[in-house]
Amino acid sequence: DTVPLEMHKVRVVQKLNLPPIEERQKAMAGAGNNTFLLQNRDVFMDMLTDSGVNAMSDRQMAAMMVADDSYAGSATYERFEAKLRDLFGMHWVLPTHQGRACENILSQVLVTPGTIVPMNYHFTTTKAHIVLNGGTVEEICYDRGLEVTSSFPFKGDMDIDKLEGLVATHGPDKIAFVRMEAGTNLIGGQPISIANLQEIRAVCDANGLLLVLDASLLADNLWFNKTREESCRDLTIPEITRKIADLCDVIYFSARKLGCARGGAICIRNEDLFRKMRVLVPLYEGFLTYGGMSVREIEALTVGLEETMDVDMISQGPLFIAYMVDELVKRGVPVITPAGGLGCHVDVMRFLPHVPQSQYPAGALASALFIASGIRGMERGSLSEQRNPDGTEVYSNMELLRLAMPRRVFTLSQVKYAIDRLDWLYQNRELIGGLTFVEEPEILRFFYGRLAPV
Ligand code: F0G
Repeated sequence: DTVPLEMHKVRVVQKLNLPPIEERQKAMAGAGNNTFLLQNRDVFMDMLTDSGVNAMSDRQMAAMMVADDSYAGSATYERFEAKLRDLFGMHWVLPTHQGRACENILSQVLVTPGTIVPMNYHFTTTKAHIVLNGGTVEEICYDRGLEVTSSFPFKGDMDIDKLEGLVATHGPDKIAFVRMEAGTNLIGGQPISIANLQEIRAVCDANGLLLVLDASLLADNLWFNKTREESCRDLTIPEITRKIADLCDVIYFSARKLGCARGGAICIRNEDLFRKMRVLVPLYEGFLTYGGMSVREIEALTVGLEETMDVDMISQGPLFIAYMVDELVKRGVPVITPAGGLGCHVDVMRFLPHVPQSQYPAGALASALFIASGIRGMERGSLSEQRNPDGTEVYSNMELLRLAMPRRVFTLSQVKYAIDRLDWLYQNRELIGGLTFVEEPEILRFFYGRLAPV
């Protein structure tokens, strides 16, 4: 058995609470069975997300102390811009306050009513911005990407035949841009291959299409390129990064998965496109040399980007996730395989076959797991979808309970605790019933909707 080894030591700690089950039950009821509405003081292991909660390094903390405070033209921003140019080889950079802010700007500039955006798979905020601007999302990952148990190493890849089909049907003018998401979030943090990006690039070149990469989860993806893709085996992480970037026209990312509390950026190859997007930055984000981030955050982000080039750093998430996934598979607990990035994804359709999709099984399991363990996960299934304009439900392809693995935050014994509690819950799964909305927001309802047992 491979056991992951922490390639860091803990120098700052935070005390955790593990409230007794009666209190957990009360807290979950008070939160309307929505883990987003729990108070962190009631949570033992917070596996809601890896966003804004990864551990920072000593070097990131130190960099925050030397930040250059100024509204315009700070040296901190110069360092940030230089780092991005160096990593991605794209000259034009725009800072934003987080990932969805990049999506707002990209969508406002590139999406017009009636256009479509082909992508390997959507992310919640991405789709919301595209739809808000009158566009339609077309998800065209390979069918095997949606198979929950698989040994296919790059389930995030885009089906080239489907892409060519969309171009043939709608014509290139109707395609706002092609979007690839590294470490495809909603299908289980599944990576994309460079070979696939090369094929997509060829289709884009043949049809004059823009290729936009969402690099929010690039750190995990780089690890999978290095370890699963033959052509990358002898390349360094910076070389793989550049190989990916060279195939793209635009790269945007949320910095919240890089050990930062805030931040993001859009890197652009073409100056005209940069100019079109630039006008929106002072409007929504802040001036061009801070974009809604504090200078301290920008310094930490610059170091975070640099540390993402260290194999010992980017291996930590995937190795801990692989351990958790493999141990759960051994116990017969249904999870998405192969293990991806971001976190461990429980396959709820198989975990709770007795709960129909209309009763939000993934939300029900998230609620039950908190009560059984004090672990907070996130529903990633039909609850995270938006209803059709006629009010009918959109049932997601997968009903997942995501247990995110914040990088370098949990010890192996904590991960073992999570495995043990999930195993127990699976043995006692008939205790879990479905949920129904008592309060349903119209947009991104999963964030603050309230539910009750059916
Ligand atoms: N794109 C991807 C692939 C993401 O995973 C996220 C955020 C965003 C864009 C939006 O970035 O939060 O900085 O505005 N994912 C978080 C998560 C929320 O928990 O998976 P943001």
